[in-house]
Amino acid sequence: MGAPFLITIAAMALLSSLAVASDPSPSQDFCVAINDPNTAVFVNGKICKHPKVVNADDFFFQGLNKLGNAANQQGCNVTSANANNLAGLNTLGVSLARLDFFPYGLNPPHTHPRATEVLFVLEGTLHVGFVTSNPPNNMKNQLFTKTLNLGEIFIPFPLKKKEGLIHFQFNVGKMNVVAFVGFSSQNPRVNTIANAVFGSNPPISPDVITKVLLLDNKVIDLLEA
Ligand SMILES: *[C@@H]1O[C@H](CO)[C@@H](O)[C@H](O)[C@H]1NC(C)=O
Repeated sequence: MGAPFLITIAAMALLSSLAVASDPSPSQDFCVAINDPNTAVFVNGKICKHPKVVNADDFFFQGLNKLGNAANQQGCNVTSANANNLAGLNTLGVSLARLDFFPYGLNPPHTHPRATEVLFVLEGTLHVGFVTSNPPNNMKNQLFTKTLNLGEIFIPFPLKKKEGLIHFQFNVGKMNVVAFVGFSSQNPRVNTIANAVFGSNPPISPDVITKVLLLDNKVIDLLEA
């Protein structure tokens, strides 16, 4: 391989990494077309503020020092600083969240349709894991887990463009856990698997769920309840 070829490859890699920079997809669920282009102008789902009236507070958020109240069914509370409450993040492709867990609290299996993440444990012991998608024939989806302590980091989806991988976090210690998550999106969104499958309105037909889980209808009714 000659040097020009290698340079071409390097340039292509650089270009493609620029092309797939964070937040490549629209941040709204749908975009209903309008005929009059003057009706409104949206950038990434938000109208932009005039630069003349932008000030430092537009890039400022406070409160991530505060304990989120995890006294709920899951024992987990997520406090997010994203483009919805930190307006300066719009179009920047990053955001941050604080996770609080009570002992044995769970952030149930979920995906972020729009982001990959880096998770950092500040306090306590947190069991984290993710599952690969689309295994080749005769293989099972593979689970990767780790139990993290103070100062340790885990990446729930190590491959770029694998934003949708199912992952979870579980407090296995007897004390509270505080963790922070950085996202590659201004608003990563969340899709909680059990809520979507068992908690939809109206419920998915038990016949469908039965086939998926190989359980009988009575158990499915119980799960959906
Ligand atoms: C998370 O904690 C905040 C602050 O205490 C509280 O207002 C909010 O209701 C909690 N959310 C859940 C889902 O428990």
